Amino acid sequence: MRIRTFDEYQAAYQHSIEDPETFWAEIAQEFQWRKPWKRVLQWNFDEPNVKWFQGGKLNITENCLDRHLLTRGDQPAIIWEPNDPAEAGMTLTYRMLHEQVCRMANVLKRNGVGKGDRVCIYMPMVPELAIAVLACARIGAIHSVVFGGFSAQSIADRINDAQCRLVITADGAYRGNKEIPLKSVVDDALIGCPSVEKVIVMTRTRTPVAMLKGRDVWMEQELKQVTADCPAEEMDAEDVLFILYTSGSTGKPKGVVHTCGGYMVYAAYTFQNVFQYEENQTFFCTADIGWITGHSYIVYGPLACGATSLLFEGVPTWPDCGRFWDIVDKHQVNILYTAPTAIRSLMGFGLEKVENHDLSSLKVLGSVGEPINAEAWHWYDDHIGKNRCPIVDTWWQTETGGILISPVAGVTKTKPTFATLPLPGVQPVLVDENGKEIEGNGVSGNLCMKFPWPGMLRTTWGDHERCRQTYFSAYPGLYFTGDGCLRDEDGYYRITGRVDDVLNVSGHRIGTAEVENAINMHTGVVESAVVGYPHDIKGQGIYAYVIADAMPADHDADLTKRDILATVSRVIGPIAKPDKIQFVTGLPKTRSGKIMRRILRKIAEGDTSNLGDTTTLLDPAVVDEIKAGAL
Ligand code: PRX
Repeated sequence: MRIRTFDEYQAAYQHSIEDPETFWAEIAQEFQWRKPWKRVLQWNFDEPNVKWFQGGKLNITENCLDRHLLTRGDQPAIIWEPNDPAEAGMTLTYRMLHEQVCRMANVLKRNGVGKGDRVCIYMPMVPELAIAVLACARIGAIHSVVFGGFSAQSIADRINDAQCRLVITADGAYRGNKEIPLKSVVDDALIGCPSVEKVIVMTRTRTPVAMLKGRDVWMEQELKQVTADCPAEEMDAEDVLFILYTSGSTGKPKGVVHTCGGYMVYAAYTFQNVFQYEENQTFFCTADIGWITGHSYIVYGPLACGATSLLFEGVPTWPDCGRFWDIVDKHQVNILYTAPTAIRSLMGFGLEKVENHDLSSLKVLGSVGEPINAEAWHWYDDHIGKNRCPIVDTWWQTETGGILISPVAGVTKTKPTFATLPLPGVQPVLVDENGKEIEGNGVSGNLCMKFPWPGMLRTTWGDHERCRQTYFSAYPGLYFTGDGCLRDEDGYYRITGRVDDVLNVSGHRIGTAEVENAINMHTGVVESAVVGYPHDIKGQGIYAYVIADAMPADHDADLTKRDILATVSRVIGPIAKPDKIQFVTGLPKTRSGKIMRRILRKIAEGDTSNLGDTTTLLDPAVVDEIKAGAL
């Protein structure tokens, strides 16, 4: 399973292309299966229908927990660092984690949850979150983790789509100097969620909460009622492990579905190889478990490999901008995996809070979530890695389950801003608008995959046709990523960003249509159009053009803007709030009524010199008005 040299990488890659089934079967054999699979792979990208390790029986928690008990029962599995450095943290060994997961699994059972039931998890970054996730997996319940920054409405949409039976939450969450009343947000959500029978509430902030008789129970009290004996449910390799909602270019977020066997093998294989994790190292992924990065590289990948995973509750800039470096120093972190947006925001504070910490334990640095610009790459390399830690710029998506294109740390020669080469088993192709493959080097196009890998999505929850439409219909026979990409003279890949109407704001994926729908819900709004624009720290900012109702002459435009922001926060969550709102009287539309976003994007970027052909517009004059009022 382990690649050590570039020759080994090339050999593994070659093997994975020539004989993918043998390649992946050899890797999968390193895990613990209750029954072997009958067939390694069955697939077509037309329906699509992808099945890995069919007939194989396993439980991912036996692989992440039980099988480590004999060899590393007393090794830390999770090191928890709280939001406030003055609060005591916590270390859970594999034995302790195993016990707590079994207890929580019994609590779920006691509350009526069984195999195949859906459980929504809305929690702070505390060990109980990882425990809740694993407890679901233990009994074959399907978890749907919702990031703690989403609104009640977003939670309700996700709960209803998956018909969740139970919600696990906490009274509140600490994030920097803020306290977020999670339970009260869940209460608002549940007004419209008839499928939910029970809510398990953990105590974190001691924020007063309403506890509904018959529905709400305290986690601490429930845990006292159960034993630590919970045999793992036997799962088929293709049984659903979890649903994770993500934004696309149209409609509401869709539930990306990952299954037990392939996802486990892929998350573990990529974790081990990309980061070159060594026994007893401490791995710190700064993502939230509410995103795919946290699922694959805080919980499942590291634990499947018997690693020590650091879980951090807080934010990089509180109590001060040295918080990450403080954690690296305190816990002697060996591998740090973070997002370009965090690096860019920390760069702005200078080096004082970096240099007063010992970062010599670091061996490998990772980047994920958005393109990393050259300046941030070099700052990371010079000041954090001190030019002795390889940087792995890892490209992947919620849908891919694990990293697809990335250097193997210390093995692949890196190049700033390039995700470099596909990992073994990954077969990228670039296509032009007509779906024709663009061969050779020094070219760019839309990034697709022409062969399945074990960690890929299987469907979108409750709507397989949507999965086909979204990912497999643009270019028949290929999985379309939605990203544009360049392959340079050396065959190295550089992801250039989304080519659809999906924004990447501080590494968070947000659909323009979602934001527009939220803005349009405000009473004073007639219509809106949302585009992204380059933002120094967030990567992309959100620019909204809004047509407001006729307003009285003395109206306060700033107040209306604030009301719109409040509306978006209420409908989606604070992460989707526009950075700029420009009121306009019209939008550039073609005669068929389609908004020409290309023009709006250029204006938002501040590039109004060459707007291209505007003669096909219904009313070309609106463009001048918008240009004149641009922010
Ligand atoms: O546009 C790509 C960008 O993030 C998108 C996937 O977002 P999400 O599903 O939220 O998953 C993020 C964490 C895996 C991709 O379509 N993206 C992710 N990683 C990179 C990236 N863009 C450039 N370079 C990366 N390393």
